[in-house]
Amino acid sequence: MKLLVLNGPNLNMLGIREPGIYGNKTYEDLISLIRDHCEMQDVDVAFFQSNHEGELVERIQQAYFDKVDGMVLNPAAYTHTSVAILDALKSVMIPTVEVHLSDLSTRESFRQVSFVREACIKTIQGHGFQGYLEAVDVLIAYVKGERAKV
Ligand code: DQA
Repeated sequence: MKLLVLNGPNLNMLGIREPGIYGNKTYEDLISLIRDHCEMQDVDVAFFQSNHEGELVERIQQAYFDKVDGMVLNPAAYTHTSVAILDALKSVMIPTVEVHLSDLSTRESFRQVSFVREACIKTIQGHGFQGYLEAVDVLIAYVKGERAKV
């Protein structure tokens, strides 16, 4: 099974940016946590972070040609603005879990809207780094379930 973990703008600044909201751990800490979790479950995982909307769109499109089985996506600020990322997700039809470190439901009103949500099988928010591991587990169960149906 092949998974892709995508992170949007400013998530490369984890550990520096607003630690009261996002914690003290870095993006590299996040990657190694997810990599270890995937390794234990014999899942192939790739990572991509970008501060540019078009690069995220292109990486989602590429996932189709790479035959990626599932994606974990934290679109960060693009969650609340990006029709382009929504359309990319709808184009590739790869099962995707939307993840947010913080609980958007308790934050500013402009963060209450998610453009990508309708193209995702689940949203996990407010669980910090652990949320990414939960998303991986959701995708493993989902992909195994889909394969069992065939
Ligand atoms: C975020 C929440 C977004 O509103 C924000 O723009 C981010 C991070 C989160 O993980 O909690 O950059 O997606």
